Amino acid sequence: MTLMDNKKEFPDWDTYYKENNVEDMPWYENNLDPDLENEIKSRNLSGGKFLDLGTGPGTQAIQLSNLGFETTGSDLSVNAIEKAKKLSKEVNFVTDDFLNSKLHENEFDFILDRGCFHVFDIKQRPTYVTQIKRILKKNGILFLKCMSIEEKDLPEEKGPHKLSKSELNQVFSADFEVENIKDTVYHGTLNPLPKALFAVIKKKF
Ligand SMILES: C[S@@+](CC[C@H](N)C(=O)[O-])C[C@H]1O[C@@H](n2cnc3c(N)ncnc32)[C@H](O)[C@@H]1O
Repeated sequence: MTLMDNKKEFPDWDTYYKENNVEDMPWYENNLDPDLENEIKSRNLSGGKFLDLGTGPGTQAIQLSNLGFETTGSDLSVNAIEKAKKLSKEVNFVTDDFLNSKLHENEFDFILDRGCFHVFDIKQRPTYVTQIKRILKKNGILFLKCMSIEEKDLPEEKGPHKLSKSELNQVFSADFEVENIKDTVYHGTLNPLPKALFAVIKKKF
């Protein structure tokens, strides 16, 4: 597979959420992602508007809301959002295709993307970046977790795109300050946990 020939097989997300228990999904993590938790603690973040982009099971949005953030969880899948809404009345769960997002300009102080960016085709990345730039406030922060190029066990054709640190830098560096990218794992239900990258990306303007 070349960079240009980037066709991947992804589930029909809405059918997938309809037919499966969220607890069985590979990305299901009931607790707050430890990498995000560390960043929130070390930066003394408390309060502000947080978007959990591609919220899926909604667990991360619920944990962020429990920490006091005014939280929105968005997902393409109506079924995912319907299931998540049953778990919390505090989180604003909304159906939204991020590539054609209806979320408001300059709305969020922080965005968590845990596993959404890496499902998009390479040619969709500029639209993704434009949308992130549009909805983040000035100096707002994107916390991004994606599969790492170091992950060798997940199948190339079916799994998410695997990214390197330099590729992430390339995608974001024009409009954002990529503060930090670290090697980590994707916390979920797979054993062993797949190798991942966790990036802290700040909007410049
Ligand atoms: C790997 S799952 C991660 C779910 C969740 N972030 C978590 O960590 O538990 C990717 C999620 O992205 C959502 N998604 C895929 N394409 C999307 C789009 N265009 N707009 C919004 N969400 C999308 C899927 O429905 C799915 O819930």
